[in-house]
Amino acid sequence: MSDESIAIVGGTGDLGYGLALRWALAGFNVVIGSRVASRAEEAAQKIRDNIGPTAKVQGFVNEEAILQSWIVVIAVPFSAQAATLLSIREKLRTGQTVVDCTVPLEATVGGAATRILGLWAGSAAEQAKRLLPDTVHVAAAFQNVSAHALQESNQPVDCDVFVCADSAEVRAWLRPWVEAIPNCRYVDGGKLENSRIVESLTAFLIGVNRRYKVLGSGIRITGIGPAK
Ligand SMILES: NC(=O)c1ccc[n+]([C@@H]2O[C@H](COP(=O)([O-])OP(=O)(O)OC[C@H]3O[C@@H](n4cnc5c(N)ncnc54)[C@H](OP(=O)(O)O)[C@@H]3O)[C@@H](O)[C@H]2O)c1
Repeated sequence: MSDESIAIVGGTGDLGYGLALRWALAGFNVVIGSRVASRAEEAAQKIRDNIGPTAKVQGFVNEEAILQSWIVVIAVPFSAQAATLLSIREKLRTGQTVVDCTVPLEATVGGAATRILGLWAGSAAEQAKRLLPDTVHVAAAFQNVSAHALQESNQPVDCDVFVCADSAEVRAWLRPWVEAIPNCRYVDGGKLENSRIVESLTAFLIGVNRRYKVLGSGIRITGIGPAK
């Protein structure tokens, strides 16, 4: 496992693929995870075709992908979050960081994409923490970044990324992964419980996208200056 490597569970999907593409463009080692090995390898090949053979990207089934990196991103629909976490939890190693990107949109159970589900745990990220062993760190990030914007790889991504985790060290550790995406600004999002607010902003942004007929609205915090 290397500090320069990141594994993405659900890396074949809209968000996961967009993140994989951006991190591969930045020169990081990217491991795409899928329930099906061939789908993961297909997504990895698509990135190599896009960037060139030097792109450091590979595809594995989720259970193997998570063994390759200290950071594991979860990018699956909320309806699949719990089952996905339970399928990998026994294999996670002490000290790994799991970054949850899932948003509990009502649409995931048949309702509106502009509404958020109320969860007993408080947020999808806090639910992830409850489902995972205490030996791994849990963070939340990238919930407000549009997959469409990430996949438009010749354009910068006009969005702040709030990184929430109970440990300030873990939040800081994720900073380079945010700043690797052109124009994304890292914002220290504080404790994991703040993911309740961040996740709900995604439902709001989906409504903005609809009203303004765009695919990738984002969010910016003012008054804190440029990225430092
Ligand atoms: N799309 C966005 O713009 C965006 C932005 C911010 C946050 N998010 C959040 O990020 C998460 C992923 O969004 P997405 O749009 O990328 O989702 P997606 O494309 O629908 O799915 C992502 C991947 O999850 C896996 N998956 C799908 N159904 C599954 C199931 N029932 N069980 C296990 N794995 C399943 C699939 O990978 P395999 O079939 O290869 O296993 C799929 O490629 C969601 O929670 C979403 O709310 C999305």
